[in-house]
Amino acid sequence: MHPTKSTHTQVARTPIAGTQVAIVGAGPAGLFLSHLLHRQGIESIILEHRSREEIEGTIRAGVLEQWVVDLMNGMGLGDRMMREAHFHSGITLRFDRRSHHIDMAELTGGKRVTVYAQHEVIRDLVSSRLEDGGTILFGVSDVQFLDLDGKAPRVRFRRGPDGPVEELRCDFVAGCDGFHGPSRQAIPTATRNEYQMVYPFGWLGILTEAPPSHPELIYANHERGFALLSTRSPEVQRLYIQVDPKDDIANWSDDRIWSELHRRLEDDSGWTLTEGPIFQKGIIAMRSFVCDPMQHGRLFIAGDAAHIVPPTGAKGLNLAVADVLVLSRALTAYYRSGTTEGLDGYSATCLRRIWKAERFSWYMTTMLHRNERESPFEQRVHLAELDYLVQSRAAMTALAENYVGLPME
Ligand code: FAD
Ligand code: PHB
Repeated sequence: MHPTKSTHTQVARTPIAGTQVAIVGAGPAGLFLSHLLHRQGIESIILEHRSREEIEGTIRAGVLEQWVVDLMNGMGLGDRMMREAHFHSGITLRFDRRSHHIDMAELTGGKRVTVYAQHEVIRDLVSSRLEDGGTILFGVSDVQFLDLDGKAPRVRFRRGPDGPVEELRCDFVAGCDGFHGPSRQAIPTATRNEYQMVYPFGWLGILTEAPPSHPELIYANHERGFALLSTRSPEVQRLYIQVDPKDDIANWSDDRIWSELHRRLEDDSGWTLTEGPIFQKGIIAMRSFVCDPMQHGRLFIAGDAAHIVPPTGAKGLNLAVADVLVLSRALTAYYRSGTTEGLDGYSATCLRRIWKAERFSWYMTTMLHRNERESPFEQRVHLAELDYLVQSRAAMTALAENYVGLPME
């Protein structure tokens, strides 16, 4: 491989001239992809904009689908997860001050709900990839794509904000750079279809130093808005309440947050929510989004770069892993036998699963949140849906099989 000279920008000679797959982004998608390729003897280099400390400290997802847990264990990446994660047989739905346990394990032949924070998954994947001799360049900036249509694409970048421009030659580029990254924009607008729905509410999430209040997650539909009780460890709990996405976190004192959580989560059983000091809080907006296709030339986008789900169904991280599993299989087939069938079918294969997850996340979100733009009729329909759900084994099974994860094709 020979570094190419640009007529416009000075290109530095770099010890990293080429790799087989250039991966942009060290989130769950990029890190899982790098591991999966490594296991097949395929080289990759990850270019990550943020520092290792930042990616390992960002609080996001919590729930892993059963097949992701099995995949991590199968790859030898699951030791800490099996020691520290929380394994629940189901979830609790709470509405009209009543609680209903949905026994996912019983309804799905033993699949469980695994609560293991995304940043813990990231820590496990980063350390193991670096121990294996993998390359992750942290703190890169100005990522640009060249010749994606040709056989030898290149990724141009700088190390740090001021480093010289470098070029990475590769066979393929995997855009795993999240919703705001540049890779999706590299698919020409003329061929890119985007489907989007923005919800008129967001989640205020907190981390609190308190013991668990309940043995499993509680999803609550309340007239004041949705609330969710989740966990992180025996000492740290994760809770969310529905708020206006444009609200300022400064308007939410700890007392106001606890008061709202108590009101939305309490039921008639005498159950109580245990409070503790809040050490992290923030507000996130919610959207559903799909980009079709997820490929342009030798660029393949995966995870949040290609699609977003509202977090109510706990699907985002899991979908990101599903995409890169499909991509790793297609790349493995290409390098083994030269076949491009898997690569050509990448978008279509992923999108079948993505749209089912989009539907499920939209369904959970609309059923459980209070949408002031909806008529009183529509709001009553959501309560009827919940009431039907907890009385029908068929409906509970449908929810359970989507929540614990549909089978990977
Ligand atoms: P990201 O995690 O966004 O990673 C992208 C990476 O690319 C980042 O590290 C970023 O720094 C890097 N990057 C961006 N731009 C550039 C650039 N120009 N150059 C180089 N690098 C770049 N999902 C679940 O499955 N279960 C849950 O329970 C769940 N709960 C959630 C709760 C909350 C509050 C939120 C916000 C999300 C939740 N999700 C959940 C969703 C999940 O966190 C995301 O879907 C997941 O992070 C997607 O992974 P990714 O690798 O595609 O993208
Ligand atoms: C979390 O623990 O962060 C969590 C759990 C369930 C969700 C979303 C987030 O649906």
